[in-house]
Amino acid sequence: MSVTSIDRAGTVATNELPHHVVIVMDGNGRWAKKRLLPRTAGHHAGVKTTRKIVEQCVENKIRALTIFAFSSENWKRPEQEVSSLMELFMSALQTEVKSLHEQQVRVRFVGDLSAFSHRLQDKITQTMMLTENNTGLQLNIAVNYGGRWDITQACKIIAEKIESGKLRSDQIDAQMFNEHVCLSELPEPDLFIRTGGEQRISNFLIWQMAYTELYFSDLLWPDFDRQAFNDALVWFAGRQRRFGKTGEQIEQSGHG
Ligand code: IPE
Ligand code: IPE
Ligand code: MG
Repeated sequence: MSVTSIDRAGTVATNELPHHVVIVMDGNGRWAKKRLLPRTAGHHAGVKTTRKIVEQCVENKIRALTIFAFSSENWKRPEQEVSSLMELFMSALQTEVKSLHEQQVRVRFVGDLSAFSHRLQDKITQTMMLTENNTGLQLNIAVNYGGRWDITQACKIIAEKIESGKLRSDQIDAQMFNEHVCLSELPEPDLFIRTGGEQRISNFLIWQMAYTELYFSDLLWPDFDRQAFNDALVWFAGRQRRFGKTGEQIEQSGHG
């Protein structure tokens, strides 16, 4: 694929768009610190960016967007930050759900939700139920999510099936294992974006991202804008995805 397929307005041809984008929205704290504001102000500013990027995914007819909102390790942060993040999730769900529903966004949550307050869990359930039949973008919000948790919970379910005689160990292969991890109903992530300048996965979708293209931006999440997201899409359109094959094989099959 080459940049010639990107028109003058910078729009990426539909056939070169990722089906599934995953984002580690990092840098809210540093954004706030630079402005001598409390970290919470950075998280609030981050919600605005998330809203815009969701809209851009809807406009581009991207099938799925998975955003990392709170990792299983983020409980280690100061109690005050954790509780203000919980309040922010609650208020953001309240304020955003109507517009998401109007945009035909189907909202799902991935992660161990049992750790959240009943109030938040109820809001999460309501949001999923309300948007369940929407046919536009699937927005997956990863909260209390960790890739190791995901793989471990898949192992537990498989072990239980073996214990109860529903499954034999020789039936385990990558494909069947995959059916037990989060997001298995979607295409595997095509494009991973991390803002904030760090080049690490931080325990995000470690099973699912085996062949994902990795894109890192130095922009802090509240500063990540339409142009920045477009730049990532253009970069993605220029990748040759080989999945173990040679470049020549891919070019011959017409997907190079
Ligand atoms: C990402 O921004 C948001 C969450 C982890 C909830 P950070 O809060 O990690 O921002 P930095 O990395 O400290 O700047
Ligand atoms: C990853 O960011 C998690 C989220 C964006 C929710 P962190 O800021 O927690 O990652 P580390 O600790 O710098 O690796
Ligand atoms: Mg961070």
